[in-house]
Order: sequence, then structure tokens, then C-alpha cells
Amino acid sequence: MEDDGFALVRKGRKSSKPGSKPSGRARPGSSSNTIQYRNVSTRQNQPKDPESVKKGILDAVEEKRSLLARSPFFQQAMDSVATEMKAFRSSSGDLDIVCYGIGSLAGSRISQLQFALCLLLHEIYSFRHLYIFDPIMSEMDRAIADHFNLTVIDTNERGKRTVSRPTLFYMPHCGAALYNNVLWANWGASSLTNIAIIGNSFDMYCCSSLDSKLAAEGPFIKTIQAHTTEVALPSNFHDNDVFNNLSFHFFRPSSMDAIDVLIWENAPEPALTSSPEIL
Ligand SMILES: C[S@@+](CC[C@H](N)C(=O)[O-])C[C@H]1O[C@@H](n2cnc3c(N)ncnc32)[C@H](O)[C@@H]1O
Repeated sequence: MEDDGFALVRKGRKSSKPGSKPSGRARPGSSSNTIQYRNVSTRQNQPKDPESVKKGILDAVEEKRSLLARSPFFQQAMDSVATEMKAFRSSSGDLDIVCYGIGSLAGSRISQLQFALCLLLHEIYSFRHLYIFDPIMSEMDRAIADHFNLTVIDTNERGKRTVSRPTLFYMPHCGAALYNNVLWANWGASSLTNIAIIGNSFDMYCCSSLDSKLAAEGPFIKTIQAHTTEVALPSNFHDNDVFNNLSFHFFRPSSMDAIDVLIWENAPEPALTSSPEIL
């Protein structure tokens, strides 16, 4: 088990990079074959009383929220996206947020910190509706989400959520195929302007992944990357595996309108089995 509460389960072929260290978190260009994440930490050393467990997690999240709010990382991140976020919001005023792949709040320090960033974003942008989904969320995770007025999505959409209003998809360190599915579900010059994505850097995917791998797992990322406005999160957070390699991705109306219409027409639905990183 990793120290942040994820157990990594591998199946099938070994990594094509001999000697590469297994990582429980997706990184652009990672080459693992079959990866599954299973939250096991909540089953170990767990105090019996669920209410005291819940209080402990809520305290931990609050502590992380206040630590993050005071960090130069957070101030810098918010400053760097302020202009793009203002333009993104201006179409409706009210944004929704969809959190995918944050993991288990009950079992992971990283998940709690990433969740704390969602709460801070809510303080700034006053989301109209907050949604959350990760297939490994436990009953306790759901109770924590409920405490903060997040709606837990009741089906596994595998990222294929089409939105009709401006929506920020917050997807820290998800697999490429999950971003790909979000893009596919909102594919189109005007539809894409309705979404923004916080997730693994598309730029880095395109620079570091094998062309054939990206074509298989993230063809929509590959197509749209050159037309995307990407703002990287600063790299000065003290815990360097929490917000590393993450960027805000925006799809400006002027950039989308300039794209050849053929791109929008050739958009086959990604197969369910397109990636082992989607559960
Ligand atoms: C590499 S982990 C990242 C976890 C955490 N965000 C981090 O940075 O450590 C990828 C996450 O994506 C989640 N995931 C897999 N399939 C998903 C799906 N269909 N919808 C939402 N999340 C999914 C996994 O359960 C896992 O928590």
C-alpha cells in the first residue's frame, strides 16, 4: 500500500520501461499496462465509532484547507488563472464543478489536500452546484462530501458527462482516457467553450507520451492540445506529489471557432475498454 492510502493492483504485461518505479498516480506519459486503484486504508486500524472517524477526517480536511489557503502556492495559482476564469465565467456567471478521481478522502492525505483546493475554489467562485465521483469512494467519503454539500454522482459516467452550462472539471492526476472522455462528451466548437479542466498537463502528454499511446488513449487530447489555453499550477507547494504536473485548460471561443470543422465531425465514441486507468 502506498502512504497516501491507495493500493496499486497490476495485471498483465509489465511496464515497458525496465526498472521504472510503479506509481499509484497517473502521470502524463506513464506506460503501465493494467492499473487498478483500491482504497484499503480505511479497513485498517479504524476506530469503531463512525462519528469520531468522520470528525477526524473533517478536522483533517479543515486543517488542510487553512494550510492551503495561506500558502504562496494557492495565491499564485489563483492569480495566474484569474483572467481566464473571469472570461470563462462571463458567459453565465454561475459555474458548476465536477470533481472526478480525487480518491478516498477517508484514506488519503493527497485526496484531502486536493479536496481542500476544491473547497477554496468554491469560496472564490461560488459554484452553483458541486458534484463528485470516484469509484473507490466509501460510505464515509460520501458522508464527508455530503457534509460539504457536494452531490455524489450516482453512476459511473467514466467521464462521459455532457454539460450545458459552464463547468469546471477538477480531475487531479486522472488517467488520460478520463480527460479524453470528458472532451469527447463535450466535443464541438461551442460545447468545449462550456468546459474548463484542471488536470494533468495536456502539453506534457503531447510532449512526453508515445504518439501511438496517446492516439490510443487520448486522441481527443492529441487533437485539441494545440488549440488549448493551458495555465500550469505553480510548482511551489511543499508536498510535491499533490498538485504536480497539473494545469488549468481553457477552450477559448476564438480558438475553437478557428478550428477546421472536420475536426468536430470525426469524433468516434471512446470504447469502454480504452484504458485500464478508468475503473
Ligand atoms: C492516479 S489516481 C489519482 C488519485 C488522486 N487524485 C491523486 O492525485 O493521488 C486516479 C484516480 O482516478 C479514479 N478513477 C478511475 N476511474 C474513474 C472514473 N470512472 N471516474 C472517476 N474517477 C475515476 C481512481 O479511482 C483514482 O482515484
